[in-house]
Amino acid sequence: MTARVIPLVDQRIAALAVPLPRVPIHPDGHVTDRLRRPLRDLRISVTDRCNFRCGYCMPKEVFNPAYAFLPHAAMLTFEEITRLARLFVAHGVRKLRLTGGEPLLRKNLERLVEQLAKLRTPDGAPLDLTLTTNGSLLKRKARALRDAGLQRVTVSLDGLDDAVFRRMNDADFPVADVLDGIAEAQAVGLGPIKVNMVVKRGSNDDQIIPMARHFRGTGIVLRFIEYMDVGATNGWCMDEVVPSAEVLARVQRVFPLVPLEASAPGETAQRWGYADPHGRHDPSLGEIGFVSSVTQAFCRDCNRVRLSAEGKVYLCLFAERGYDLRALLRGGASDEEIASSLGAIWQNRSDRYSELRASLPTEQRTSARRIEMSYIGG
Ligand code: GTP
Ligand code: 5AD
Ligand code: SF4
Ligand code: SF4
Repeated sequence: MTARVIPLVDQRIAALAVPLPRVPIHPDGHVTDRLRRPLRDLRISVTDRCNFRCGYCMPKEVFNPAYAFLPHAAMLTFEEITRLARLFVAHGVRKLRLTGGEPLLRKNLERLVEQLAKLRTPDGAPLDLTLTTNGSLLKRKARALRDAGLQRVTVSLDGLDDAVFRRMNDADFPVADVLDGIAEAQAVGLGPIKVNMVVKRGSNDDQIIPMARHFRGTGIVLRFIEYMDVGATNGWCMDEVVPSAEVLARVQRVFPLVPLEASAPGETAQRWGYADPHGRHDPSLGEIGFVSSVTQAFCRDCNRVRLSAEGKVYLCLFAERGYDLRALLRGGASDEEIASSLGAIWQNRSDRYSELRASLPTEQRTSARRIEMSYIGG
């Protein structure tokens, strides 16, 4: 009997054809999608590689030495990324987030930061330029990134206890080095710093209170992230999700909190401030956030677009296919043509996966074609 080979579905091959509207769409900074959502936040993945193997994102069984990461030539150059970012800005983008995999693994990243920092909105304002990192290389790179024009960083950190942290990153990486990276980022002024903790029941939920205690009063905003069913490799199940309401209740028992207003429309996190003895927010103690995409979807105002390292545009974290902008870039398209295509892609968008999750048939909820978080970033 011949062995049956089950081919890995490779999302990098499947692509949506980029629309080329016959009537050009000139960017006026106000493009909206089918659900009338504007385009504000561009997340740029600069590599699909990472030196961690967090089980909820890059489980070792799949991301092993045989896994084929993107070859260098497949990835957009810094000039290509900057050109696309400029056209997205013309359509209304105001925030740029560099992500990965682990973005600091991309060589000379500060040169890309330098180019992006020069972009301006149509009114001449600089963009909110930030980066999501696992912190492992931050101590070494924080200063150069700041000097290149990066404004702030968000660091993923799933626990304070060294043994728990090493288990979560599954690369035996010590927590002290990430804490040093955060301290360096703070020292060079890459703030306000945010720390993202994905909470997985039975794995690191014992770290909720130690994390809250550690960052309370430091000016660093800790956010608890519900473990999501993103991608197709992490073996997600609801039992491992700790709903934000439960995390909130656990923190409230130790540190009184008061709800805060959203600071921007379409924000991912619900904000809570540490209270003073009178039950009012004490700004010196700071705030925490909850990103609850499983129990309280926030698609209604989702203004985020994602660009993969090889130049595909994805309209949702849970998308199966992206639009191949690289083909357009390398095929000699003009700025007008690319801007027009970006406008058409956004105008046609109706994605709202998290809102639909519960009502979707199982095949769709567990599709093997879904992009991985390591491919598209957070
Ligand atoms: P700030 O501008 O610093 O507030 O960043 P942000 O909250 O917009 O971005 P961040 O990347 O820190 O998001 C936090 C976490 O929320 C990510 O790690 C993801 O787990 C999750 N997340 C971000 N964007 C989305 C989204 O569009 N949909 C869903 N379902 N989850 C998201
Ligand atoms: N669920 C929730 N968040 C995730 N991230 C990666 N995978 C998941 C998942 N399955 C987030 C982590 C990390 C960012 C890059 O992506 O918070 O900070
Ligand atoms: Fe790497 Fe971040 Fe994914 Fe962990 S969550 S494997 S640090 S990209
Ligand atoms: Fe946006 Fe998709 Fe996340 Fe909903 S699930 S908030 S549409 S990225």
